Amino acid sequence: MASSVLYSLLLLLFLHNPLFSTANLFHKKSLFREELDLSESQQQPLNDTPPTLFFEVTKPIKLPNTKPCSYHILQHDFGYTYGSPPVLANYTPPSHCPSQKFSKIVFQWNATCKGRQYDRIFGVWLGGAELFRSCTAEPRATGIVWSVEKDITRYYSLLMKNQTLAVYLGNLVTKTYTGVYHVNITIQFYPAEENDVSKLGALVSKYHTPADLIIPFSRNLPLNDGLWFEIESSTDIALSEFKIPQNAYRAVLEVYVSFHENDEFWYSNFYNEYIEANNLTGAAGNGPFREVLVSLDGQVVGAIWPFTVIFTGGINPLLWRPITGIGSFDLPSYNIEITPFLGNIVDGKSHKFGFSVTNALNVWYIDANLHLWLDSKSTEIEASLLEHVSSPLVVSLVSDFKGLNGTFLNSVTRSISSTGWVKSSHGNITTNWIQNFRYNNSMLIESDGDLQIVNQIIHFNDSVRTKMPSSSVYSIESHKKFDLYLYYNELDDGNGTSVSLENVTLGFFEKKSKDVGFGFSEGSLRNVQNGQGYMAVKNNLVVSGLGSTQQVYKYDGDLCYFRNVSSSNYTILYDQVGYKCHRGTRSHFGFGLSSMQPSPAQRAFLAPSLLHNGKDI
Ligand SMILES: *[C@@H]1O[C@H](CO)[C@@H](O)[C@H](O)[C@H]1NC(C)=O
Ligand SMILES: *[C@@H]1O[C@H](CO)[C@@H](O)[C@H](O)[C@H]1NC(C)=O
Ligand SMILES: *[C@@H]1O[C@H](CO)[C@@H](O)[C@H](O)[C@H]1NC(C)=O
Ligand SMILES: *[C@@H]1O[C@H](CO)[C@@H](O)[C@H](O)[C@H]1NC(C)=O
Ligand SMILES: *[C@@H]1O[C@H](CO)[C@@H](O)[C@H](O)[C@H]1NC(C)=O
Ligand SMILES: *[C@@H]1O[C@H](CO)[C@@H](O)[C@H](O)[C@H]1NC(C)=O
Ligand SMILES: *[C@@H]1O[C@H](CO)[C@@H](O)[C@H](O)[C@H]1NC(C)=O
Ligand SMILES: *[C@@H]1O[C@H](CO)[C@@H](O)[C@H](O)[C@H]1NC(C)=O
Ligand SMILES: *[C@@H]1O[C@H](CO)[C@@H](O)[C@H](O)[C@H]1NC(C)=O
Ligand SMILES: *[C@@H]1O[C@H](CO)[C@@H](O)[C@H](O)[C@H]1NC(C)=O
Ligand SMILES: *[C@@H]1O[C@H](CO)[C@@H](O)[C@H](O)[C@H]1NC(C)=O
Ligand SMILES: *[C@@H]1O[C@H](CO)[C@@H](O)[C@H](O)[C@H]1NC(C)=O
Repeated sequence: MASSVLYSLLLLLFLHNPLFSTANLFHKKSLFREELDLSESQQQPLNDTPPTLFFEVTKPIKLPNTKPCSYHILQHDFGYTYGSPPVLANYTPPSHCPSQKFSKIVFQWNATCKGRQYDRIFGVWLGGAELFRSCTAEPRATGIVWSVEKDITRYYSLLMKNQTLAVYLGNLVTKTYTGVYHVNITIQFYPAEENDVSKLGALVSKYHTPADLIIPFSRNLPLNDGLWFEIESSTDIALSEFKIPQNAYRAVLEVYVSFHENDEFWYSNFYNEYIEANNLTGAAGNGPFREVLVSLDGQVVGAIWPFTVIFTGGINPLLWRPITGIGSFDLPSYNIEITPFLGNIVDGKSHKFGFSVTNALNVWYIDANLHLWLDSKSTEIEASLLEHVSSPLVVSLVSDFKGLNGTFLNSVTRSISSTGWVKSSHGNITTNWIQNFRYNNSMLIESDGDLQIVNQIIHFNDSVRTKMPSSSVYSIESHKKFDLYLYYNELDDGNGTSVSLENVTLGFFEKKSKDVGFGFSEGSLRNVQNGQGYMAVKNNLVVSGLGSTQQVYKYDGDLCYFRNVSSSNYTILYDQVGYKCHRGTRSHFGFGLSSMQPSPAQRAFLAPSLLHNGKDI
């Protein structure tokens, strides 16, 4: 058949599920999910089978040695919630806790579901600020259960005030799609340990603590949908006005992004010249490069080249049961350092952040939180931008195609840097921020479009360096590498039956180094998933299928964690967990306040997790 994988699935979806052709329900590669469930429910008895535990492999959260106060904030059954207002709850600070000083706050999402249902994107907001973006697991006839924990200590200032908690999970329940998501949200507050208060200098300890104020950039309640902005095309820009207090001496913009519908698999989208030459209609185009740009009063101040999260219904849904794709249960957020630009925005006037996506197709969900640290000893700081260089993208594309067969090599680079000083009661501090990106995507299309192989590597480096006239205050450097390999082959036997084969590799790597003037540390994460699957489809009904996944996760940092786990056909084949560091010696890559033992001899690390990506490496 002279049609591509993506293209043919797209048509099928429209043919079979007009109901689901709206907004975020569309998954061009996960069409067969419900048919799979059909065949599964035919094979399996419904009773007596315990629910399957689904999970994302990640390190445990480092907790202080105190007893947490638990706050059950929401219990809800998400049935027919699509296009409805978010579910709301009144949040009040945990006054029932004996201590009101917390060193760790952990958000916990627990859910169950049974039957047949699509994967649904959802978000949780507190006072309009997004705390958590995730995707639901797809249920089985026999039921599933899953739980996600996230360190939300960085939202401390929000959590100490009365707020509205909002959860949007757009689900549809029909005779066929029966799955209702039953959800509990709990927040655990861990009181600070007695001797927690660090012996650090006031300033370094300031860099270590959560922001004093968080300004959300999202849509306001009431509304029928998520609070995120929707970016629908490459020219679409979500603009949001704001004012900040004039004593803000540090600012970090945390951005949440997810991609859906025509851009859910953006890294495999066809180039427009290929689509045009072959008269393809309905194929997702604009090529496989995407970046999120953040502008301040019209100038690009930072970029995000996102990790390729694959949702639980993506490519072949059987790959993600029960081990879900990297980041799918807890999407990463990305930090843009705004401190160098404070001189432009501490004037007490209104300014505008803008969010856009290069090459975007419908639809990206984007919102952000501005974390601000305020000078308690003054009402106004002085600040000025010294230098800002945002060079345009450098793009190279080599393509060679004949009909529907072809090869495409795309390389893109970008760098952004800024330097500015801020004079507050802490002194005159100069902040330099640099982002360097490199992207490489090779795409091979063969068998007249039935075979597609994508190899993509993103290098995402950034660094923040701050210094006083006489000394360095801190510096942090992060090198991230996001790997993706996708092999998708659809074989048509000309008999109404087609078999597709899928191989996927996802890699999330990060190395961080931190220097706080009197201590240096390093940490690293290697997280790699390999999956192999197939689906046999007859008359658009899956008659058989299999997914196998292997994952190796190694984290050396404030704690050490290792996991080597594999599953096939819903069954865990092996699962090794370790708590030893792999570099021989344990590093003092301290993120938690409780682990700090400042001593120059040990070169213990003291800088903040809050400085950088929401996902600590
Ligand atoms: C959520 O799930 C975790 C892990 O299974 C469990 O320890 C916890 O008690 C559950 N919380 C709620 C409120 O159900
Ligand atoms: C939610 O919590 C309630 C009360 O603790 C419990 O009965 C229910 O089973 C929980 N549901 C889930 C999905 O964890
Ligand atoms: C927060 O909400 C609680 C419960 O509704 C109320 O008693 C309290 O007065 C509120 N606090 C503030 C500062 O509004
Ligand atoms: C595409 O459509 C044009 C105009 O209808 C036609 O001339 C051309 O042959 C078509 N190309 C392919 C590959 O079908
Ligand atoms: C702060 O330091 C910068 C860089 O050294 C300098 O250009 C600026 O004039 C200083 N500002 C004040 C108010 O001293
Ligand atoms: C990112 O940093 C790594 C390690 O220093 C380097 O090898 C790589 O070339 C850098 N990439 C970019 C895009 O700067
Ligand atoms: C990009 O990919 C091509 C083809 O795989 C390879 O030849 C080239 O070295 C890669 N470039 C970078 C910067 O990784
Ligand atoms: C595309 O490649 C397949 C083999 O992969 C070949 O059979 C077919 O003839 C090729 N089509 C064109 C237009 O070259
Ligand atoms: C076509 O389908 C029929 C019925 O399922 C089967 O018997 C036959 O072997 C199939 N032919 C091929 C070429 O797969
Ligand atoms: C896909 O994975 C299977 C199983 O690991 C392997 O045998 C096969 O060579 C892989 N194919 C490709 C094209 O990567
Ligand atoms: C993971 O476990 C498998 C099976 O025991 C083993 O073959 C593999 O070498 C292990 N990988 C690592 C990185 O330890
Ligand atoms: C998967 O497991 C089910 C039941 O456990 C079994 O019936 C089925 O044959 C297995 N599928 C494959 C492809 O091994």
